[in-house]
Amino acid sequence: MTKSQNITWHDSEVTKTERQAQNGHKSVVLWFTGLSGSGKSTISVALEKALFERRIHAYRLDGDNIRHGLNNNLGFSPEDRKENIRRIGEVSKLLADAGLITLTAFISPYREDRDRVREILEDGEFIEVYAKASVETCEQRDPKQLYKKARAGEIKNFTGIDAPYEAPEHAEIVVDTETTSVEEAVQQILNYLEDKQII
Ligand code: ADX
Repeated sequence: MTKSQNITWHDSEVTKTERQAQNGHKSVVLWFTGLSGSGKSTISVALEKALFERRIHAYRLDGDNIRHGLNNNLGFSPEDRKENIRRIGEVSKLLADAGLITLTAFISPYREDRDRVREILEDGEFIEVYAKASVETCEQRDPKQLYKKARAGEIKNFTGIDAPYEAPEHAEIVVDTETTSVEEAVQQILNYLEDKQII
């Protein structure tokens, strides 16, 4: 819902298509979703580097980082997570318009919120990447010791413990991080991007 009135859209004289042509690749959003500790951040960091080395313009937006700045006024209630994802969806849309490949790493636990981002992007621009790992596995990894805190009741509304995670039903890419190495995951996603002639 737009609050402001009397606002007008100004088009650029450079189009998205022209930017993509100059860059030599398409601009899409690789939307990673999965539990905390599922491997979203790790894979997206490695993939961003692999893309950069191929001279592809890519940029990563990561939940933990974005919550330090742009979204530092949001917590983990369903409403705040929805707003978190809405803002990142809009930023991703701008970056797609700028000709970049965006990699987002947010738990984004609600299907509806992810689908809303898919809707605001053009067909084929939203590529959902499900970092698949069970709660048990993520809890065993517990890199930030957050599951431990959640079990102890020190963190409330923790995804997978006392807040839900709705797994994607039609993700473009599923990376089973219990059986796939980071290198293999990166290769799997690069293969997808090549097959679809995005890069
Ligand atoms: S999302 O649900 O709104 O998409 P986001 O990806 O931005 O979450 O942030 C998740 C990160 O915040 C986790 O990786 C973890 O480090 C931290 N965190 C802190 N509190 C919670 C919580 N209650 N639930 C999930 N993650 C939390």
